[in-house]
Amino acid sequence: MKTTSARILLSLHFLLAAASLNLFAAAAASPRERLLLDFGWKFHLGNDWGTGQNLSKAGSGSGPAGVWFSDVSWRPVNLPHDWAVELPFDKTADCAHGFKALGHEFPSNSVAWYRRTFELPKEDSGKRLWLEFDGAFRNCDVFVNGWFIAHHDSGYGSFRCDITDVANCGGKNVVAVKVDASEFEGWFYEGAGIYRHVWLVKTAPVAIAPDGIFVYSQFSNNVPEGPAKIHIQTRLLNSQTIGSSATVKDQILDPDGNPIAKIQASASLGPRSKNEVEPVVTLKSPVLWSPESPKLYKLVTTVESGGQVVDRQETEFGIRTVGFDKDKGFLLNGKPYLLKGTCNHQDHAGVGAALPDALQYFRIAKLKELGMNAYRTSHNPPTPELLAVCDHVGMLVMDENRLLGSDPLHLKWLEELVRRDRNHPSVAIWSLANEEFGAGGTPAGKRVGETMQDLVKRLDPTRPVTYNAAVGNEFTGVNEIIEVRGWSYHIGTNNMDDYHAAHTNQPNVGSEQGSTVSTRGIYTNDAARGYLSAYDDNAVPWANTAEGWWSFFAPRPWLSGGFIWTGFDYRGEPKPYSWPCINSHFGILDMCGFRKDNAWYYEAWWTDKPVLHLLPHWNWPGREGQEIDVRALSNCEEVELFLNGQSLGRQTMKKNSGLKWKVKYAPGTLSAKGYKNGQPVAETRVETTGAPVVVQLTPDRSTINADGEDVSVFTVAVTDAQGRVVPVAADLIHFELSGPGKIIGVGNGDPSCHEPDVYLPVWPSHSVAVNDGWRWEKTTQPWNTNLLEFAASFDDSTWAPADVQSPTNQLGDNEHGVFRTHLKVTEPELAAGVVELCFGTLNGNGKIYVNGQKAGETHDGGMASSVDVKNLLHPGDNTVAVLVENYSSSGGIIKGVTLRMQDKPVLPEWKRSVFNGLAQIIVQSTKEPGAIKLSARAEGLSPATVSVQSQSCAPRPFVP
Ligand code: GAL
Repeated sequence: MKTTSARILLSLHFLLAAASLNLFAAAAASPRERLLLDFGWKFHLGNDWGTGQNLSKAGSGSGPAGVWFSDVSWRPVNLPHDWAVELPFDKTADCAHGFKALGHEFPSNSVAWYRRTFELPKEDSGKRLWLEFDGAFRNCDVFVNGWFIAHHDSGYGSFRCDITDVANCGGKNVVAVKVDASEFEGWFYEGAGIYRHVWLVKTAPVAIAPDGIFVYSQFSNNVPEGPAKIHIQTRLLNSQTIGSSATVKDQILDPDGNPIAKIQASASLGPRSKNEVEPVVTLKSPVLWSPESPKLYKLVTTVESGGQVVDRQETEFGIRTVGFDKDKGFLLNGKPYLLKGTCNHQDHAGVGAALPDALQYFRIAKLKELGMNAYRTSHNPPTPELLAVCDHVGMLVMDENRLLGSDPLHLKWLEELVRRDRNHPSVAIWSLANEEFGAGGTPAGKRVGETMQDLVKRLDPTRPVTYNAAVGNEFTGVNEIIEVRGWSYHIGTNNMDDYHAAHTNQPNVGSEQGSTVSTRGIYTNDAARGYLSAYDDNAVPWANTAEGWWSFFAPRPWLSGGFIWTGFDYRGEPKPYSWPCINSHFGILDMCGFRKDNAWYYEAWWTDKPVLHLLPHWNWPGREGQEIDVRALSNCEEVELFLNGQSLGRQTMKKNSGLKWKVKYAPGTLSAKGYKNGQPVAETRVETTGAPVVVQLTPDRSTINADGEDVSVFTVAVTDAQGRVVPVAADLIHFELSGPGKIIGVGNGDPSCHEPDVYLPVWPSHSVAVNDGWRWEKTTQPWNTNLLEFAASFDDSTWAPADVQSPTNQLGDNEHGVFRTHLKVTEPELAAGVVELCFGTLNGNGKIYVNGQKAGETHDGGMASSVDVKNLLHPGDNTVAVLVENYSSSGGIIKGVTLRMQDKPVLPEWKRSVFNGLAQIIVQSTKEPGAIKLSARAEGLSPATVSVQSQSCAPRPFVP
């Protein structure tokens, strides 16, 4: 945020196009690096080590937080990773969170640790080093090299830690993150773990501050006619103890990549301080951004200090205006623009909340196909990658903060959200919070909302602010102060029209509407199985059918359009049902993104293309001669229905509605023709299919990038001999993959399916006791790293025997000792993937030597600990020496010692049933190029094998 004292514009040069653009030409190298830290993590579900924090001594975290901790037996994972999706369903677990065995009732499933080891080159010393987490669920403690570095509660906000002081440049670094998902934040599936990306960022000590660039455009009257003023705010950070100065050189590239403007400004920087510059450039006839034409400009910011380029950052931005008018509704680029939006949570079939970026593209593309132009990130800050997708493909975003709150912490999170997201042209509206039933309507709610809105406005003068209020005609609390009244349900003239008439200066938006419930391919409500018919007939009590809400909104442009609850089904909230239902029915798309019939309702009324869709399917054996409820969803003026070629009549379509027939069932073809101005413009048919005969696999993309991140999303279909999807098929499909790829998740959109979304490898392990032959003796030199007693050849035969299985410590108050034994190991034992020496309890600070070489340290008083000894042991006789440094009343080795061998993993078989003919399987590339071959087979059906090509690419820079 700017303050007069903090912002000193020392010089400002404003130069337009052509003239001397080459001044900025060569992309000068800068010390800034932003490296993906997603690969090569180790993961352990459960917490045997307490907080990991050593409250008495700095830099010496215990358990996994310690540098020496052995994680060799932990499961390797890449981020993003959601462990909740891996957990079993449990009838006793929280219904709203999708019955996953997570939360405080399931303590062993609810806390987990992640560890990552990496090298930093010597040359990094002197740089500023940051870890950036796009988001993790939740309650994270971050340790670096044994130091406690950060605590972050929110499961949704991004956070960053400055690790400069504790980093080991020129050596090994260990990041450990304890994630505690015991408490929920929402009433929907939220995932668990580091489910978004992590980055390592390096900058010079004088650099652009984190989230330090804000580029925005302004036009007179907020209408993009005439020239645009482009404000380029750059916040600089000097982390040195001496003052400095810097020149910020900005260059703007148009959407075709041509340099079109440049400007520069300088600022002085006090020791360890920040300062801002904000030059303004005028662009004569800018190309505007919109969902239909998402044209992006690029700002290239170069910072020079002391005659050197010290930073360079690229920021994409769009030029457009947004606003609301009390009568015309939402305005984009000065014109009324109907918001055709969906609200969404962030999880997807197969992967839970941990979506690879390519899956964000997949989801947004599915929504755009239906004519959607807006997305509400209900009820939390999204991952920044979602916003990047929306910028590029064109989708407006209502960016939602998690909770009302004007205490310092909640305001900090709100500020971080706005600073992080305000360059995205897709972000069009901020939402302060959702349905704060208790507080939203109170005087305190009003004051809190006012403080929050004021903060947002100071950080971002360009976007309107709303709040999703679940009340009708009530002008209390947040509604009194909010710039745009958000409507959560409460349709009706007495609510909306009366409110509008009474508060003529406040614009309105349908921030949450719909909550229509349906199941893909199901045409009768079935409470026992947890299915709802996909006719547009069912909504939860406070909500409406698709036609119900949209036909109310459509003639009222002042309502600005709306956001359907929801675009995609999500885990949890299986309303109106409960177990065995585990996911919601609100989506117009199911968990996989397969359309439910209502999707065609919206496509019909929210796009201009001719749409004609018939429901239900036409496989009703045993119901011959009985009446079936047939409906047509269409934007045609008239629709004629035929059964087996015979007309069943032509009906005229009412706007924003659908058509109904009662048809006596006979197998064959049900078809329809749609007319506009009397001319046929659309045709469709549903056919009675034959029995399931074939499995089909269809990838959404047949070439993906070999970057270890990209995915191909396969549709699995069970078809009849003629290739028609059998709409009632439920076959169990088995998958096999070969080549440089891996399966990361499966789903089928069935809201009551309890089959796993994820299949994990299993690591068999076995242990042998190492309790015999221990001898020990006290030492007065516990700090000596070269004790003769560590040597393999040391003669300990005169030492006293030690019982390491005893529950009683050997060492008294402030006594230290060395413990030794011999260990026989066979060649097959050493061939195991992991060989660890495990101590039931090593009380004190332990230093472990194998054959005279240091294997590790433990500082885990009272806890089990282990060290990696695979490379130190040899077949035959080995010696183990353990120095125990004890500064408390007792110490030593107790509760037994074992050697644990973990074998190579047994890989799982992936499988999933199709639900009403369809399932989905998500395949991810590795960093190796080549053909990834996926095969699918099911009993009695012809199998399928399909390859996707994983092509060489330059992966985005990552931490090796
Ligand atoms: C709303 C709420 C949503 C969801 C929805 C279901 O009140 O904002 O999160 O619970 O109801 O209809």
